[in-house]
Amino acid sequence: MNKPGVSKVEVKQMNNWNFEIDADNIAWLHVDMQHSSANILSKEMLEELDHQLLSISQHNPVGLVILSSKTSGFIAGADVRAFAGMTDRHEAEQLIHHAHEILEKLENLPFPSVACMHGFCLGGGLELALACSYRIASDDADVRIGFPETRLGIFPGFAGTVRSTALIGHLNALQLMLSNRNLNGRQAKKIGLVDEVVPNRQFKSAARYLIHDQPHRSRPSLLQRLAGVSLLRSAITTWLKSQVSKKVSIEHYPAPYALLDHWNTSAGDPQQMALSEQQEVAKLLTGETAQNLIRVFLLQNRLKAQKGDPDFRPTHVHVVGGGLMGGDIAAWCALKGLRVTLQDQSPEMLSRAIERAQQLFSKSLRDKRKVRDAMDRLIPDHLARGVPRADVVIEAIYEDAEAKQALYQQLEPRMKSDAVLATNTSSIPLEILAEKLQDPDRLVGLHFFNPVAKMPLLEIVTMASTDTAVIDKALAFSNRISKLPLVVKSSPGFLVNRVLLPYLMEAMQLHKEGVPAAEIDKAAKMFGMPMGPIELADTVGLDICKSVAEKMGDMLSIEVPKELVSMIDAGKLGRKSGEGFYRYEKGKAVIQKSSQPVDESVSDRLIGRLLNEAVATLREAVVEDADALDAGIIFGTGFAPFRGGPMHYIDHYGKEAMLEKLQQLEQQHGERFKPDAGWA
Ligand code: NAI
Repeated sequence: MNKPGVSKVEVKQMNNWNFEIDADNIAWLHVDMQHSSANILSKEMLEELDHQLLSISQHNPVGLVILSSKTSGFIAGADVRAFAGMTDRHEAEQLIHHAHEILEKLENLPFPSVACMHGFCLGGGLELALACSYRIASDDADVRIGFPETRLGIFPGFAGTVRSTALIGHLNALQLMLSNRNLNGRQAKKIGLVDEVVPNRQFKSAARYLIHDQPHRSRPSLLQRLAGVSLLRSAITTWLKSQVSKKVSIEHYPAPYALLDHWNTSAGDPQQMALSEQQEVAKLLTGETAQNLIRVFLLQNRLKAQKGDPDFRPTHVHVVGGGLMGGDIAAWCALKGLRVTLQDQSPEMLSRAIERAQQLFSKSLRDKRKVRDAMDRLIPDHLARGVPRADVVIEAIYEDAEAKQALYQQLEPRMKSDAVLATNTSSIPLEILAEKLQDPDRLVGLHFFNPVAKMPLLEIVTMASTDTAVIDKALAFSNRISKLPLVVKSSPGFLVNRVLLPYLMEAMQLHKEGVPAAEIDKAAKMFGMPMGPIELADTVGLDICKSVAEKMGDMLSIEVPKELVSMIDAGKLGRKSGEGFYRYEKGKAVIQKSSQPVDESVSDRLIGRLLNEAVATLREAVVEDADALDAGIIFGTGFAPFRGGPMHYIDHYGKEAMLEKLQQLEQQHGERFKPDAGWA
């Protein structure tokens, strides 16, 4: 492999790492993991690196430069798949210890080493770079340098805690590890994490300069160094723990707390710190939380892997209905680089949608030129001129079957024959909507969640007769706009709303019985839900909750609570009207803090109904399998990720024990807790 600018004199190739020594006696080590779009630090990759380091040393080069041959980036992290199912702490510790040994060899080479980082340089990838003498980052906007480990329930385990605190200082390093924030090259340089920031094409000259000149490496500031003094560490730990506790509890997410304890007890002694890191990360890794979070990571990969039709490359989307959902769907598609025409019968709705889009673009893109380009891609189109040119047409008008059918009759004859016709309906069966189409099998549901820019899931709703080619196109489209697709059967509420509704209704029942809203929400949050059901109902809008409950009511034997109806009649629609179950000030719920201990029976009732409905949807094959269900509920509702999803939680809790609990609830509260036939 002869790279430009390097006159090769010696080449040593292995599966994933190849090196060459140039005429200046510099070793260039290229990492290019086989059969993978990204470089991942698997066990095999690390072992090969070990071999290559030995071979390189035998050549006595003046320096070593590590570069990635992947366009996606340097190294995206450690091999998370290898951690799944790992329950033996000793085995985990061995694995981590081995990685420490190999990176130590890199660090102790008798000549300087340089890591050239573009694209992703995360987790284990960053830890490898930290073992080099110098780091160069690309000045590209897509550079992502960071430690995502605590999201997986662990903390950096390849000596990342030791080397980052030494290089950039204690507070900087802790902040980087606790926040999971990704830095670009310039931000990384500012805190001393990288030595140079250059355009990719200058990597090699910058690396040569560092090897030949070996400039002094940056040192953390006095404050950063002082923070590591043992007298101060415990106060800093207490303060940082109190910050962490505002976001996550130690019972649900122990990793950030364990990181702080590890730092508090071992910082200042690198050897002790390395040892403590190996032990503590092994302990976390084999624990329940990390294993569940790793499961969630793999479920996410499963959804992402559904690429659909590779030949379908949509460039133009036409959205009809510029209300809350249609407007935001259009904005999201434009943000993701598609040309979008947005149609609405009301010019006022169109202008409001464009205003919201501008806010989204400014917040997400920052750069003025990029915001302008995104605005140019989003075209208000009240005459529906975009229809004949669109590859995907998404309908998001009022939830009214007849209005939707009438609209399709206008759209279908004008659409390209191979374009996708999609509806964002949240409750009307596709079979009804497709009735008057010339080709009913072309209709597919693309069910986005509110708020569109924040919710990662996209339900792809299908009928038994839906053309598989259409489903494949819908999957490709979902990928194109960076959503996680989940194929679901057209049935009331599909997956997410179906499972969520009984849970919301139970919250309202509890409220009717006199349990304060704040206590109900607290109980759900203690279980691990990101937002309580009462606040969620207020956020979605009480009128929307009522309409969904009415539409799904018959099938799920759900009665719309009278309290809900009278609140709506009184104009209390939730957050959007300033009052619902809570009052809202500047968009924030005014919640009376209660010091009452949480009554467990509240969360038993809420979660019991959610789980029972999940079992029913699985029995009815609304989704393919239990894993798909778990993925859908986690990414569609935020269901406590550290519990690994509803079906996984049932397995963990014990099916029999959970069934018994439901039967008790049925005796106490009636039919609605009757265990679904699916439990059998
Ligand atoms: P919305 O009431 O905010 O917006 C509907 C828009 O459609 C209005 O701007 C209206 O002027 C326009 N419209 C109605 N008929 C039209 C026609 N024939 N031609 C052109 N424009 C027309 O409604 P929202 O909340 O955006 O809901 C839209 C769809 O999305 C519904 O099917 C709803 O069930 C679904 N949905 C709603 C969610 C939510 O949280 N609101 C979540 C997921 C799906």
